[in-house]
Amino acid sequence: MKKLIIFSGAGISAESGLSTFRDNGGLWDQYPIEEVATYDAWLKNPKKVTEFYNLRRKNCIEAKPNDAHIKIASLEKNFNVTIVTQNIDDLHERAGSTKIVHLHGEIMKSRSSVSDKTYPINGSKINENDLCPEGHQLRPHVVWFGENVPHMDLAMKLIADADVFVIIGTSLQVYPAAGLIHATKRECLRYIIDPSDITVPSDVIHIKKRGSEGVKELMNLIK
Ligand code: APR
Repeated sequence: MKKLIIFSGAGISAESGLSTFRDNGGLWDQYPIEEVATYDAWLKNPKKVTEFYNLRRKNCIEAKPNDAHIKIASLEKNFNVTIVTQNIDDLHERAGSTKIVHLHGEIMKSRSSVSDKTYPINGSKINENDLCPEGHQLRPHVVWFGENVPHMDLAMKLIADADVFVIIGTSLQVYPAAGLIHATKRECLRYIIDPSDITVPSDVIHIKKRGSEGVKELMNLIK
């Protein structure tokens, strides 16, 4: 089976009602990054940061996978599919995809504030004084700006070996993740699904549609 890598960003979850970051009215229009998505913000005001992610987790639980997630999951019938996602939601999992690498963490998990150990979250909230077994405050299992991005080596290897590489719903503005577009081998077929005028290398086929429509078109192009 051909190896297909899907590289997804917030745009794929837009049709599930979850905000993107940099579209008009996106999350970074509503919240200053330095107040809710950095380690310093966590040290300065852990309550504010925890509340920001509690609200996003609630939205994620209430959201449903959309057609783009579902169609991508169905590609596993004909391709060896791995998803490399910048998204912290679990909509790819809930759509039925089975191999998913989260580069920026997973909102449905918590993490000890002094180790990489992760823990399930009962319900939708991490509360002040929710402690890990070693007695330290639990934090969202999310990669904040300036923190190390786990699994980048794994992502690079997977993409370097891909026969087909599909980018969907990312503005490609956040590194090192955005640099993954250059990790493909020369003969790899590359597509990007995004309704906006995103600039892409000339040999990348731009399907200028929203996720659900774009994946439908992609399926006709790669079968
Ligand atoms: N279908 C497909 N793409 C869409 C849709 C849609 N319905 N709606 C918007 N988009 C596109 C936008 O045109 C944009 O290119 O999705 C992209 C969203 O870009 P961002 O909001 O920047 O999200 P993303 O690229 O995932 O951000 C990367 O930045 O803040 C950090 O950690 C955060 O993982 C995130 C990273």
